[in-house]
Amino acid sequence: MNTDAAVIEASLVKLAERGIELRHGLYERFFAAYPARRADFLCPEATSVRMTDETLQMIHGLASDESWVWPLVAELSYTHRAYGRLPFEEYETFVDLTVTTMADALGVDWGEAAAAAWGRQAERLKAMIAKAQTDWERVLPRG
Ligand code: HEM
Repeated sequence: MNTDAAVIEASLVKLAERGIELRHGLYERFFAAYPARRADFLCPEATSVRMTDETLQMIHGLASDESWVWPLVAELSYTHRAYGRLPFEEYETFVDLTVTTMADALGVDWGEAAAAAWGRQAERLKAMIAKAQTDWERVLPRG
């Protein structure tokens, strides 16, 4: 069965087989896009593991129609308010870079099916993050 969940899972298995830690390339690219953000990461060696893994889990969870994704995204959006005002554009970039870093890491093992599946689920994740940010701002507006 060639569902998005199966395709995404196959990419994750390939990544693990190659022994590549996505977070290094992902963070390099993210900080290249937003150099001033580097200072907000007090413990990147630890938090980059969690931030990257949770993004991958959310994308895979969405593809599998898991009901825990929305509560996790809502929580993430709430806890990240502690790091200051993070524009949606930065989340958008982080999710997009997760997919492009994955594509580069897989090289020849990245094909049209992977691009389509990851692209579709990344769009869903970004839409969820946008909704969570808007909802929190509505119920708990910041001055
Ligand atoms: C889907 C996207 C994202 C996910 C799933 C995510 C998830 C996480 C997680 C799980 C942590 C660790 C919390 C902990 O261990 O206590 C974290 C920390 C953090 N995140 Fe994110 N995050 C995302 C996007 C972003 C973006 C776009 C920014 C923008 C700068 C950001 C800024 C931070 C900062 C500043 C920390 C604390 C880092 C530190 O103290 O070293 N996150 N994030």
